Amino acid sequence: MKYFIFTFGCEANKADSERIRQKLNNLGHKETLNKKDAGLIMINACSVRQSAIDRVRAKIMEFKNKKIILAGCLLESDKKKFQNKIWQIWHPNEYFDLIPLHSSPLSAFVPITAGCDNFCAYCAVPYTRGREKSRPTGEIIREVKNLIKKEYKEIWFLGQNVNSYKSGKTNFPKLLQKINKIPDEFQIRFLSPHPKDFSDELIKTITRCEKVVRYINLPVQSGDNDVLKKMNRNYTREQYIKLVKKIRRAMPDIKISTDIIVGFPGETKKQFQNTLKLCQEIKFDKAYVSKYSPRPGTMAAKMNDNVPFKEKKRRWQILDKLINPSTSLRASPKKKKLIVVLGPTSSGKSDLAVGVARKFNGEVISADSRQVYKGMDIGSGKITKKEMRGVKHYLLDVANPKKIFTAIDFKNMAEKTIAEILTKGKIPIVCGGTGFYIHALLGGVDIPRVAPDWVLRAKLEKKSCEELFKILGKMDPIRAKNIDSQNKRRLIRAIEILRRGSGQIAQPPKFNFDILYLGIKRGDKNLKELIHKRLIKRLKQGMIAEVKKLHHQGVSWKRLDGLGLEYRFVSRYLRGLLTKENMTEQLETAIIQYSKRQMTWFKKYPSATLRASAPGIYWVKNEKEAKGLVKKFLKL
Ligand code: SAH
Ligand code: SF4
Ligand code: F3S
Repeated sequence: MKYFIFTFGCEANKADSERIRQKLNNLGHKETLNKKDAGLIMINACSVRQSAIDRVRAKIMEFKNKKIILAGCLLESDKKKFQNKIWQIWHPNEYFDLIPLHSSPLSAFVPITAGCDNFCAYCAVPYTRGREKSRPTGEIIREVKNLIKKEYKEIWFLGQNVNSYKSGKTNFPKLLQKINKIPDEFQIRFLSPHPKDFSDELIKTITRCEKVVRYINLPVQSGDNDVLKKMNRNYTREQYIKLVKKIRRAMPDIKISTDIIVGFPGETKKQFQNTLKLCQEIKFDKAYVSKYSPRPGTMAAKMNDNVPFKEKKRRWQILDKLINPSTSLRASPKKKKLIVVLGPTSSGKSDLAVGVARKFNGEVISADSRQVYKGMDIGSGKITKKEMRGVKHYLLDVANPKKIFTAIDFKNMAEKTIAEILTKGKIPIVCGGTGFYIHALLGGVDIPRVAPDWVLRAKLEKKSCEELFKILGKMDPIRAKNIDSQNKRRLIRAIEILRRGSGQIAQPPKFNFDILYLGIKRGDKNLKELIHKRLIKRLKQGMIAEVKKLHHQGVSWKRLDGLGLEYRFVSRYLRGLLTKENMTEQLETAIIQYSKRQMTWFKKYPSATLRASAPGIYWVKNEKEAKGLVKKFLKL
């Protein structure tokens, strides 16, 4: 049967949906993105607030003529109410051992604990998800390694109280350390830690593990000690402030967000002022503020919900305005435009970016994980002053090669640079081959998850490539321009996706930006030739002397090896581990392999169509084609 999933609530539920999808597929069902087509409606419910459960009820009513499976977080009282209107109920936390079908090609949720033992007075979670259970460490490591192999770049550890994770001797900091040791470039994030369990060991671990993103959502809920006590949060206002100060002392660049509830039973204006004062003192980067909503069966449900809705709303507005002021980038009435130029190594990105920048008044932000380092010029293929042809470049030579520069460092600097370029009235052009950096900065682009439509496919199958190409051309001329017109499978798939229209699933953009992704396409043979020529040229230019010099300046052999490719193989030659000939040969092979990995990464993005709501990459052959697209894009 065809099914459609509705997911309400938090990341834990989103993660469950990814596993539920697998379970339904195993049962022989097929996902559709068209509700009308579905015979089976899966509702993954949230009970955290009455409004969330109201939306669940509305969905049950809307699809009462179909088979409905209800899953997720449900209170007993609601289960009873819904029981006779639905087909089945599934319980959360049953999905750990299923392989999830992730909805993003770049980020993956990995639940590490389920349930919660904290019994905060307002919260439904301990009742809907039961007692806290931690997953075995080995299982988590295996899942993460698998994801890394599949080129996932962002791993989210999820738990209701994620930092109380404990399995055998492994606590949460130890788990992070173990994951951080896995080679390859990726980031680790987690949601949500509880302040009472935020140990010094955890702070130290985040400080030291370069893969752990310096962002923490640390729910405070209230800034008043009496309210905190009634909420059963197990910390005081003073303890919370002290903790934040400690974290910031260890990592001055960390971003901290929070959850707050306003209008908890009995919360006076004065108590609310205490929350306000705490926020003024801490200056959160963001806050998720909710109006208290009684949940049957919880401790707080027995208290008198005496703050009128209007007053809850007023408090909510005050806090939201204080903490979540719209930044100039996010709230500008007109969307800003940004161009990304990407492609494999040696494909001619830098040159194309300069060409575009000169014609359209742009400035270039390099997105290359090795060109950020000072003194690494020839080996990293850094653009020279002359090649810049007067166009300003940023994010080159900003780091010391002895120290690790992370994607987060890149993101922070690039965000500031973009704002700077925009205030000058120029177009920011992000150019580089480190897909991971581009992802860290701009967020992922999700692959359109459009389920195959077999009836349509069978119909299209009968047509010739020429006919299909014509159909596609009518639907979306630009998509047609970028497709192999002799590849029937691709043509059919493109039409299928366009037919669905809404099939594109975009992650919420981090900025309010219109982004044009330009990719440089090269045939395999052509790229290999370019790589070869460029390598020989750089060897002549003094690449070996450059690596020698870096070592003299104190960059260790181990570090040079870790910097990869040119720095790895040349340093091995300098240490006498390789002959010159072997070095050149092995290096060239490694660069070719690297270019393939880059392309695998870029292929995760959909190919673009001007109609799609989610951006994809426009693959261009030359500068002229690129300029044509930019011109159109800037006019849109
Ligand atoms: N386990 C996580 C998330 C809990 S639910 C944590 O402890 O942080 C997410 C948020 O919803 C909570 O942080 C709280 O701010 C809010 N919330 C939970 N129950 C609520 C209720 N009954 N009324 C209003 N907001 C609530
Ligand atoms: Fe709910 Fe508190 Fe557990 Fe979070 S820690 S899930 S708010 S009981
Ligand atoms: Fe999440 Fe809502 Fe359940 S917040 S844990 S989906 S009650």
